Amino acid sequence: MSNERKVAIVTGASQGIGAALVKGFRDRNYRVVATSRSITQGSDPDILAVPGDIADPATAEAVVREAIARFGRVDTLVNNAGIFIAKPFTDYTAEDFQTKIATNLAGFFHITQQAVAAMLKQGSGHVVSITTSLTDHAVAGVPTVLANLTKGGINSATKALAVEYATRGIRVNAVSPGIIKTPMHAPQTHEFLAGLHPVKRMGEVRDIVDAVLFLESAGFVTGEILHVDGGQSAGH
Ligand SMILES: NC(=O)c1ccc[n+]([C@@H]2O[C@H](COP(=O)([O-])OP(=O)(O)OC[C@H]3O[C@@H](n4cnc5c(N)ncnc54)[C@H](OP(=O)(O)O)[C@@H]3O)[C@@H](O)[C@H]2O)c1
Repeated sequence: MSNERKVAIVTGASQGIGAALVKGFRDRNYRVVATSRSITQGSDPDILAVPGDIADPATAEAVVREAIARFGRVDTLVNNAGIFIAKPFTDYTAEDFQTKIATNLAGFFHITQQAVAAMLKQGSGHVVSITTSLTDHAVAGVPTVLANLTKGGINSATKALAVEYATRGIRVNAVSPGIIKTPMHAPQTHEFLAGLHPVKRMGEVRDIVDAVLFLESAGFVTGEILHVDGGQSAGH
């Protein structure tokens, strides 16, 4: 077991932004623990797949335990697992609410707690969460209150944790995307979604990976909500 290379945990790593984040960290020679419900172990010995539902505290515990057992440390946690349910407010079901809170908020809470505990022992670490610029600007005709409730909570928790751990070597940041071309959005919706950005195009997965990797190497940046949203949070 070697401690010399950095180790990143990426949640929601099976597809979309998370799968690209795994590649982005591997390209920087990190060892990566990749987790999601459907993740499977591939042939790269520097990627450890740990399957599980991120809402379950047992998944959080297993991911961090396996990271330390296999790679010896946890330098970075990327909270990327998340779901999106857009509906008029009064149409949301109790199940929508529970699923959203479980995946987006409990999924952030449990693994961040486990990872920060490991980082505290090391005296260093970085937590970065993928939120959404919908928390800063509601879009008429696209009702998303459960995204606002959950991702807005993570943005606020990012600042609180950044200050709580500022003197103990742990930075805490978020990347706030606009609408990104991933399996979350069917191709037939892309033209409409592009129009929701001042730059009149959707973002690419690479835009989010680049932002996460920038924050990873920006040692004086903590408590930052980095908007990568084609100008959405600036105005319309
Ligand atoms: N795409 C966008 O336009 C956009 C915009 C703003 C913010 N975001 C945020 O960016 C993040 C990634 O989005 P994406 O577009 O890449 O999404 P995606 O393609 O739908 O992928 C979501 C990932 O989360 C995992 N996941 C979902 N529920 C889970 C659960 N209960 N437990 C464990 N893993 C779970 C999925 O894997 P399994 O199915 O294998 O579990 C998958 O790997 C999300 O947090 C999303 O809210 C995306």
